[in-house]
Amino acid sequence: MTRLVVLISGGGSNLQTLLDGCHNGELPAEVVAVISNKADAFGLQRAKQAGVATAVIDHRDYADRAAFDAALADCIDEFEPDLVVLAGFMRILTAGFVERYLGRMLNIHPSLLPKYPGLHTHQRALDAGDHQAGATVHFVTPELDGGPAIAQAAVSIEPGDDASSLAKRVLAQEHTLYPSVVRWFAEGRLTLVNNQAVLDGAPLPMTGKLLDTQTP
Ligand code: GRF
Repeated sequence: MTRLVVLISGGGSNLQTLLDGCHNGELPAEVVAVISNKADAFGLQRAKQAGVATAVIDHRDYADRAAFDAALADCIDEFEPDLVVLAGFMRILTAGFVERYLGRMLNIHPSLLPKYPGLHTHQRALDAGDHQAGATVHFVTPELDGGPAIAQAAVSIEPGDDASSLAKRVLAQEHTLYPSVVRWFAEGRLTLVNNQAVLDGAPLPMTGKLLDTQTP
C-alpha cells in the first residue's frame, strides 16, 4: 500500500478526495498523515474525521525557511511516506527540501501551466482574455510551480465568469485530476526520469496528459 503524507494550509477539499479514494478502494494508497502549517486549517478536521494522524508545523515558529523546512522534513519522515502530496500547501519550499523528495512529491496548481505560476491564477487568465482555465498536477522541483507536468484538466471560460466562479469550476476538476495522478503513482506507473514525467514508460508532453475529466 502506497503511503501518502499530505501537506495542506487550508480547506483541504483535494485532501478529502484522496481520503475518499483511499477509503473506497479506488486508490491503492493510505493517507498516513496530514501536516499543516496552519493550526486552523479545516483540512485537519477532515483528517481527524477520517482517523488520520495530524501535525501542525507553524512556519512562524522558525527563524527562516531552512529551519522550517528541516522541521517539516523531520515530521514527514517519521511517517515514512512513499509520496508527499502538496494539496493547497501555501509555502515556498527550499531547494534542499525539494531535492530530498525529488520524484516522490507532487503538487496541484490551479492553472494550465506553464501559464500563471504563483498566485491569482484565475484572475490572470480572465485578464488575459483566455478561453480556457484549468489545473495542473506536476512533480515538485526547486522552480516554483515549474516542475515537469503530469496531467491537466481544462474548463471553458464562460461570459460572465469571475475569479470565484472560475475557481469553483476548476476546483471541481481538481477533485478528479489529483486522485487519478496519485493512483498512477501508487500503481507504479508514474516516475520522474531526467527531469521529465514518465507514464507507463513513455515521457509525457511538456504540459502533461490532458485528462477529460468533464465527460462522465
Ligand atoms: C486548490 O485550488 C489547489 O489547486 C491550490 O490550492 C487550492 C487548494 O484547495 N494549490 P483545497 O484546500 O484542496 O480545497
